[in-house]
Amino acid sequence: MVDLSTVKDMDSTTTPYGHLLFMHSDNAEAERLTALAGAFDQDTIHRLERFGIQPGWNCLEIGSGVGTIAHWLATQCPHGEVIAADLDTSLIPEGGRPSNLRVIAHDVTVDDFPEGSFELICSRFVFEHLIDRDAVLAKVVRWLAPGGWLLLEDTGPFPFDSSPNPLYRKVSKAIMAVATKRMGSDYGWSRSFPAQLRANGLIHTGIHASSHGVGGTPMGRAWRLTAEHIAADLDAQFGITAADLAEFADQVESPSFDDLCIASVAAWGQRPPVPTMPVPRQN
Ligand SMILES: C[S@@+](CC[C@H](N)C(=O)[O-])C[C@H]1O[C@@H](n2cnc3c(N)ncnc32)[C@H](O)[C@@H]1O
Repeated sequence: MVDLSTVKDMDSTTTPYGHLLFMHSDNAEAERLTALAGAFDQDTIHRLERFGIQPGWNCLEIGSGVGTIAHWLATQCPHGEVIAADLDTSLIPEGGRPSNLRVIAHDVTVDDFPEGSFELICSRFVFEHLIDRDAVLAKVVRWLAPGGWLLLEDTGPFPFDSSPNPLYRKVSKAIMAVATKRMGSDYGWSRSFPAQLRANGLIHTGIHASSHGVGGTPMGRAWRLTAEHIAADLDAQFGITAADLAEFADQVESPSFDDLCIASVAAWGQRPPVPTMPVPRQN
């Protein structure tokens, strides 16, 4: 049995997400992110719908990936503008974009927007990969208009702890350990939801988690492609061989294989609306 605690969290080889690993130019990245969106978009949309989205809202999606959520938001806000922001926007299809969808290259760790720009900001599976995620969160909260909503969704790794399938559990936990070591990802961050939203002044905060099966599903495909992308590290750090990976791929692509994958842990909160001025007393 591999001892995952032997992996140091980070070292001098750690580089941010998208710089050496999971670059959009990598062969299977479009398919991997499309599968991820296929697994989780309905959960995200249900969460967003609870904010009572208005046609004139200006919205921002941070780390849009293939852009499906930003595209959906643009259809909900025909009189506002929706910005799809990502380090690399090359996977967001140019055809069929609503006219109010603006796609921009943007590094959330260094770039900025004016205070109060957006009625809604969302971001899925991005903050866990940002090494300075707490500082970035404080900055992003300032981009919310008074009364605006923030939805963060990040990974919860806990379904793997109770997995009854040893190889699946071992490879899945090793994937997370490799991402932590190579990119500084923190899959424990979502377990402090939604306290950090309250700490940044947001109100009406909440938390919810969802997880999907892997057997022959979009989630299974995304998880297989994730493992294959870092196959060399899985072998070097955990002795996960090509034969192990082939068996893992068979498992997650087989409709008769029953197990859960990562959870999407969602936290949301609202920037307090501008307090109304007290009406002066008439004497
Ligand atoms: C795991 S993918 C998630 C994609 C999409 N949000 C989804 O859930 O389907 C992470 C995305 O965040 C983007 N990203 C990573 N670091 C970023 C940064 N510092 N600023 C903006 N985007 C970033 C990546 O390019 C990638 O598209």
